[in-house]
Amino acid sequence: MNTHLLVSDAEHFRIDYEINPYMDTGNQPDGRAAVAEHDAIVEAHRSAGRTVERMPSAAECPDMVFTANAALVRRGRAVLGRPPTARANETDHYRRWLEGRGFEVLEAPYAFSGQGDALPCGDVLLAGYGRRTDRRMHEFLHRSLGYDVVPIRTVDARWYDLDLAVAVIGNPHTLAWCPEALDRPSRQRIVRLGLELIEVSRDEAEHFALNLVSDGDTVTMTRDAPRLAATLRDRGLRVVELPTTELAKGGGGIRCTALTLG
Ligand code: ARG
Repeated sequence: MNTHLLVSDAEHFRIDYEINPYMDTGNQPDGRAAVAEHDAIVEAHRSAGRTVERMPSAAECPDMVFTANAALVRRGRAVLGRPPTARANETDHYRRWLEGRGFEVLEAPYAFSGQGDALPCGDVLLAGYGRRTDRRMHEFLHRSLGYDVVPIRTVDARWYDLDLAVAVIGNPHTLAWCPEALDRPSRQRIVRLGLELIEVSRDEAEHFALNLVSDGDTVTMTRDAPRLAATLRDRGLRVVELPTTELAKGGGGIRCTALTLG
């Protein structure tokens, strides 16, 4: 899991608009620091043995560093994301890249945050709705990609994408999650899955603790969540902690910058 990733770059990363509560046009990322931060993440993926493909960002797309929202990909098929209007001009770039790589690309019929709201866990897909993803997407994802969809709703805009509130850690399946970020029926649905669950505090989750990439052996995560990092190490995982202060200004972290291709 997560062994083949698509990333972009932070060359054009800026805060031109505010579409989540972390973004503030008065608090711009430092260009050089952002590029360095992103390069270090890519390097960490490669050191963990993951294959990373890079797609250049476009100047008119200040959020393109967050490739996770581009699509949801499974077995050679990609369902494109359908993002808020401010990010709409990213979609053509992703469509072309994915088609050029031979993926069968499907358009999303409704609002869809791509992998930001869709966390695969074996054949189960934990799928967010009610913020960036229309619930009607769930049936579409079931039919087009074959997942058993578990609908999950977050309780406020801090968790505008599900990958800020829940993370798949590994095999046999373990999830890390911030229960407070989810409504009660969603919490019950997660508990009923019978997976191993690691609880993360609201404070660490707000610092992008759960916005991590795990391949089941190595977890690449922010350095701003030492309690989760320690818990994962206690469970025998290799944990690599990296600075994410610049990405945080866009409301994202490490998971948001990598679209899983395989
Ligand atoms: N500024 C971006 C937005 O609001 C951040 C996206 C982060 N991606 C994610 N998968 N959570 O769309």
